[in-house]
Amino acid sequence: MVATRVIKANPSRPEKKQLEEAARILRRGGLVAFPTETVYGLGANALDEEAVKKIFAAKGRPPDNPLILHIAEEAWLERIAAEVPPLARTLTARFWPGPLTLILKKRRIVPLATTGGRETVAVRMPANAIALLLILRAGNPIAAPSANLAGRPSPTRASHVLHDLNGIVDVIIDGGPTRIGVESTILDLTSGEPVLLRPGGVTREELEGVVGSVRLWSGGGEAFAPGMKYAHYAPRAPLTLIEAGEKGVRAALEVVVRRARLAGKRPGILLLSKTAPSEAHREALVIRLGPGKNVVARRLFSALRELDDHGVDLIIAVGIDEEGLGLAIMNRLRKAATTIIRPRKW
Ligand code: TXA
Ligand code: MG
Repeated sequence: MVATRVIKANPSRPEKKQLEEAARILRRGGLVAFPTETVYGLGANALDEEAVKKIFAAKGRPPDNPLILHIAEEAWLERIAAEVPPLARTLTARFWPGPLTLILKKRRIVPLATTGGRETVAVRMPANAIALLLILRAGNPIAAPSANLAGRPSPTRASHVLHDLNGIVDVIIDGGPTRIGVESTILDLTSGEPVLLRPGGVTREELEGVVGSVRLWSGGGEAFAPGMKYAHYAPRAPLTLIEAGEKGVRAALEVVVRRARLAGKRPGILLLSKTAPSEAHREALVIRLGPGKNVVARRLFSALRELDDHGVDLIIAVGIDEEGLGLAIMNRLRKAATTIIRPRKW
């Protein structure tokens, strides 16, 4: 057990002196949780094998699930990537700093412990002034997975990190709630064509505006993000996801709520779009996200944690379409779900 300290920092104008202690901990091989524009990260020096192993131990993360390296300057890319193809330059010019992670061939300097044994490296430059200044002061790329216990919803507030990692992480920098709320988009550039491994804060449409068409990773092969095979983003209560549909969404919701009540269970309902109020809502705890997908993304993980805090026995989420940020939002919900209902086929 360590005594976890929370340091507040101003997300728009962080001061060097506020971050100096945290940067020192990183330089000495310790762990620091910090805000990015997507979710909070659990950081360690990416080039220090011993430091990186602490991340895996702290989260209970399987060692074959590689970490994303966060850099503060584009010039650092050559330090860790063996090849930077022209397409990578085009993408970084357009989307960095920002929620786009690129998979490239790694240099030897990046330990295999960081990349889960792979010869490739994931890298991004976060669009958060605290993160950038911290990384710059630390002087090395910072490996950082989301700062939650493995399998739990990603943290979008310092309090979520404290809940999961109190006594485990040395320092948490509190920079307020994160702006985007879902993790970065991961694009693999190590094969002939770009492959979208994880939808995220940069939408598929935005990527395609630059790259032409982007193939969605559909299972199998070497390229995939190993993290996607593990249980993810899950609240404690089992989650039933009702997919968006033309018809039958409301009927499905009512059936699931009624069944829960008959079994003596207290359901929580997560509504992602305008769904007309119904009988079902009166019998359950309801959280409405939105309006708009930006707001849904920003609040999604925190709403899952809130429902757990309320002690509901099961969560029923009603989904949205997959345009724009909808793709990332639905990806997270499907991974969190124990049951998925597709109303059109009902
Ligand atoms: O927005 C984000 O990306 C956040 C913030 C903290 O930057 N980080 C994050 O890290 O979501 P994490 O560890 O929760 O998810 C990283 C994902 C995992 O699914 C992992 O398998 C994949 O990235 N990944 C990392 N390195 C990879 C590689 N070399 N090849 C394929 N997938 C990789
Ligand atoms: Mg994660």
